[in-house]
Amino acid sequence: MKIQKRVVTRLIKGGGLMSKKMYRVGLISTVICFGLLTTANHVLSAEKADVSKNATWGGGKGKEAGRDNFLGTCSPCHGESGRGDGPLSDTLGEGIKPRNLTDSKLLSTRTDEDLFNVIKNGGASRGFSEVMPSQKETFTDEDIRNIVLFIRGDLCKCQYKGEGGK
Ligand code: HEC
Repeated sequence: MKIQKRVVTRLIKGGGLMSKKMYRVGLISTVICFGLLTTANHVLSAEKADVSKNATWGGGKGKEAGRDNFLGTCSPCHGESGRGDGPLSDTLGEGIKPRNLTDSKLLSTRTDEDLFNVIKNGGASRGFSEVMPSQKETFTDEDIRNIVLFIRGDLCKCQYKGEGGK
């Protein structure tokens, strides 16, 4: 589509080499192209919304936003892959390690609300280390939900399965 657009612009700039009819054909196919893209996006969003069945929120583009914020704010401790091995992970103090967020067995015992709350209110609010910082001032609730979607969808690839994780 990009190429086609460029050709169209070049032809127009090139001094009306193109007939009005050709221009219209170009325009119409561009519009159709956009239409198809939008439809495809809708289908994809519908799939993403299913990422976390027990979530109280939808998906859409949220997971991508969640990934960006995770990489920006959480990866120094939790690592880019979420395994708890970020560059700061060895500096947090005796016996304190960022959680391995790819641990599906552990995270299956957590509800989405659990994850949301610990991210929003910090580790201490849940009896975890206070080193795990509260994101209350950094992110909106929506941002945090998107981070949870990302953790569920791409890191632990897991859902809440009950207290025993089963
Ligand atoms: C300064 C380092 C640091 C940063 C930054 C950090 N965390 Fe943590 N996080 C920790 C530590 C340490 C723990 C484990 C606390 C414990 O074991 O008591 C933890 C625990 C967690 C848990 C608890 C998992 C469970 O067992 O229920 C979640 C979820 C989590 N972090 C997500 C995040 C997210 C998302 C971000 C970014 C918004 C983030 N953390 C930023 C250090 C950090």
